[in-house]
Amino acid sequence: MKVFFQQQAVNLPTVMKMIQGKYRPFPPVNLSDRQWPSRIITRAPIWCSVDLRDGNQALANPMTVDQKLELFQTLVKCGFKEIEVGFPSASNTEFAFIRRLIEENLVPDDVWIQVLVQAREELIERTFESLVGAKKVIIHLYNSTSPAQRRVVFGKSQAEIVRIAVQGAQWIRERLSRLQDTEVILQYSPESFSATEVEFAREISEAVMGVWQPTPERKMILNLPDTVEVATPNVYADQIEWMGRNIKWRDSLIVSLHTHNDRGTGVAATELGLLAGADRVEGTLFGNGERTGNVDIVTVALNLFMHGIDPELDFSDINAVREVYERTTGMTVPQRQPYAGELVFTAFSGSHQDAIKKGLAEWATGSRRHWDVPYLAIDPRDISREYSETVRVNGQSGKAGIAYLLETEFGLELPKDMQREFGPIASDEVDKLGREVIGSELKDMFWREYVERKTPWSLVHFHADGATGGMFSCNATLKRDGVAVQVAGLGNGPIDAFAHALMAIGVRMFGVADYKEHSLSAGTSASAIAYVKIGMVDGPTRWGAGVDTSIELASVCAVLSALNRF
Ligand code: KIV
Ligand code: ZN
Repeated sequence: MKVFFQQQAVNLPTVMKMIQGKYRPFPPVNLSDRQWPSRIITRAPIWCSVDLRDGNQALANPMTVDQKLELFQTLVKCGFKEIEVGFPSASNTEFAFIRRLIEENLVPDDVWIQVLVQAREELIERTFESLVGAKKVIIHLYNSTSPAQRRVVFGKSQAEIVRIAVQGAQWIRERLSRLQDTEVILQYSPESFSATEVEFAREISEAVMGVWQPTPERKMILNLPDTVEVATPNVYADQIEWMGRNIKWRDSLIVSLHTHNDRGTGVAATELGLLAGADRVEGTLFGNGERTGNVDIVTVALNLFMHGIDPELDFSDINAVREVYERTTGMTVPQRQPYAGELVFTAFSGSHQDAIKKGLAEWATGSRRHWDVPYLAIDPRDISREYSETVRVNGQSGKAGIAYLLETEFGLELPKDMQREFGPIASDEVDKLGREVIGSELKDMFWREYVERKTPWSLVHFHADGATGGMFSCNATLKRDGVAVQVAGLGNGPIDAFAHALMAIGVRMFGVADYKEHSLSAGTSASAIAYVKIGMVDGPTRWGAGVDTSIELASVCAVLSALNRF
């Protein structure tokens, strides 16, 4: 059962006051010849998902066994080879889940399941019970080491805190013979490492190593958690590099990172920690976890992918992963979450949309080897996101985004000059709505503005004949403000003949200035659309559009649509 505490009402300050001395800068690590700033990451770390433990313990409603199983299978599908499946001594659900994984043989042969336990004998005992029959396990022991934890929670000296860790390590070592047919890796975390003095973190880690006696052939994992982010990520990197350079038997260790996100720099701390020499990363999908969450492994992995480094995790169907994550955890991936958020491949600003459209067009030619499309960090299709998602329209959008949606969603290929005319009309309407609009709303606007303009002029009947000498004649019945009008004219094509017929009854147009047509859909009811620009003798021009199954009639309607817009 989880109990939530309601904060008592207090008089809150109306301005944020800096109380002298209440907060202080974090002391730097003494490492003047640090190496990590001039390194680059060249390969993927070992990944360990802690979704089913750190992630699960941070949920208002922890996952059921079935939900955990579904998420576990998704993590396996993504390629995780190490998955912390729970804290078996902490709850019956965790214990039952682990037993189910083992008894129903649900763990692939190449996947290590990891379990977390504190340095308490009865908890270690229960943890071992949960592991009977497992093929590959990581037993993860932790105790807290920071000054605040030593002082406030345990009221113990450094030496006493070391004794807790050593005792826990011994209880584990004593029980290892019970897991004869199981491959075991041991892991130790000095919890709250980043807030601990590096010298003490080294001392306690070495004390545990003294009990477990790792070798280069049988390494143990030393996990160095940024349990609560307390400094800028470079400080964490210094701490990791310091440990790597000063701890004994470095070659018998897999150094692991476990960052949280209290200062919003969990990803940065992890990346700098890798530069500083770490081998392994613990984290969760989309950054779920205690408080502000654990590091988002999706982001770290896709950041590698973006630099051409195989992340050795498969997020090629990120939407599917996100769907399972949201359903099983009840969490939502924020719209701006790197790579996975709904809006991250979306540009609202007109100039951005234009640049993206041009960049995508250049990429489609195949002339470039390296991805270099403005405003798109990676090709959205690589993770099954859609190009169509890249352009959405709101009041800030320009003609390019509008034209892109009309073309990609409805096959409307507006001439460039017509895009310049319709763009501001649509933008004005969208601005008035004060929200984003979808493609069909834009199409409705286009239809209202052009295709459905039937006053004052509308078409009743039109007939054209090719005549001798390449000339065409036409007869048409029109309505002007509901009154029938007969017109007839000659021209070098049916539309030219129609324009002349209109001029003959006093319409002050000089003719067709631009024209484009294309079919709209395949099949028997296929229709065509014509776009026609007409000019008046005194200067102004307007575009019109008409739709009909006959391209000739579509063009005539387009002329009247343009005329109706003066
Ligand atoms: O954040 C943390 O320190 C942890 C430990 C148990 C590794 O989750
Ligand atoms: Zn954690």
